[in-house]
Amino acid sequence: MAKTTKTKMHKTMNPISENIRGSMVELLQTHLATAVDITYQTKQAHWNVKGMNFIAVHELFDDLHEETEEYVDTIAERLTAIGGQAHGTVQAASENSLLDPYPLDLVKSEDHLKRLTESYAKWSAAIEKGIEEASEAGDPLTEDLLTAVGRGLDKGIYFMESHFQA
Ligand SMILES: [Fe+2]
Repeated sequence: MAKTTKTKMHKTMNPISENIRGSMVELLQTHLATAVDITYQTKQAHWNVKGMNFIAVHELFDDLHEETEEYVDTIAERLTAIGGQAHGTVQAASENSLLDPYPLDLVKSEDHLKRLTESYAKWSAAIEKGIEEASEAGDPLTEDLLTAVGRGLDKGIYFMESHFQA
């Protein structure tokens, strides 16, 4: 479960009120930690997967890694754009990620696909709540960013799940 870490706020000419910015920075901090976590979950799967469909899933996990790295960057840069201080280290991610630790001993492609889909689904559910929170707070740009991340995660779920759904 994520801990709340108070974030240093910088002075900014960004027009959103300080209250809203503060709450959006806290929200984005949790999603930044989760993004950093998941981006190395995809690499863990990329490096260790084995099976008859090796090359396809090895490459799929790397594509997913690249997408999640984009999420890390866009989330961190929205957070700093509204005056926050990004907590982007692996240590901060490990403290604040919403995800359960990815097992280090998984090998079979189906096991990686199912486990990584679980992480994506868990994060996607949290993103949905975040979208509501940003909407209620009155920050449509953060809402829009989280919506794009959620859409990407759901596509990732579809790409992975299609291997074991039928
Ligand atoms: Fe690689």
